Amino acid sequence: MIHLSPRLAAVAALVRPGAHVVDVGTDHAMIPVWLIQTGISDCVLATDIHPGPLENAASMVEKTKTGNKIRLLLTDGLTGIDPEGWDTVILAGMGGETMVSILSAAPWARGQIQLILEPQSKKAVLRRYLIENGWRIDCERLTEDAGHIYPILTAQAGQAPAYTQAELHLGLLEQIGGDPLFGAYLDKMRTQAVKAAPYDPAAAALLGEYGKIKRRRRPCRL
Ligand SMILES: C[S@@+](CC[C@H](N)C(=O)[O-])C[C@H]1O[C@@H](n2cnc3c(N)ncnc32)[C@H](O)[C@@H]1O
Repeated sequence: MIHLSPRLAAVAALVRPGAHVVDVGTDHAMIPVWLIQTGISDCVLATDIHPGPLENAASMVEKTKTGNKIRLLLTDGLTGIDPEGWDTVILAGMGGETMVSILSAAPWARGQIQLILEPQSKKAVLRRYLIENGWRIDCERLTEDAGHIYPILTAQAGQAPAYTQAELHLGLLEQIGGDPLFGAYLDKMRTQAVKAAPYDPAAAALLGEYGKIKRRRRPCRL
């Protein structure tokens, strides 16, 4: 059985048993192989826009003898994918704006797909796109890997609640506020806002909101 990094393991853990998964931007195909080896899925489409990463994926599939259950496809995002038969789409390890462009080009996904998203940047842009375009983020969690904290979210079609500016950047507080890593994540986001605040009024406003959230969090007195 292959070993997943904490970040990839946290993404893979959100796949429902029996799911038929498209892993977009698969590169090394670690998640598809793990899903097949664990029996969580018996059918995965692993795609990438670049031939090099898809060759990495092909080597991994060959090495692990999972080729009868993993199909590889060179394509941009979800382009050319038959909507029939897929119920889960993973987008991990790419920027939030790339995710927005992939989802915008595949409006069919909103009707039937559970998204599992691990954006590396522009998370507020991604959350705003989702909630303004018929998606509801139904779960957010944080995972730590090699000193970095990564948000991972799932979304499906639905009506989203209202988000504050801070929640667009952090995630909905009622979903993420109780995460064991939330305090550390909030501190990291505050540090970024402190650096940007002198020349960016939006960052200064966010810093104020983050400060209020931090003050509302009561320390554990055990
Ligand atoms: C940093 S790797 C992430 C690999 C893996 N998903 C992970 O999380 O470790 C990003 C991958 O996304 C691919 N990619 C970027 N834009 C893409 C797009 N529009 N469609 C498909 N793949 C894309 C890149 O070629 C690259 O292999």
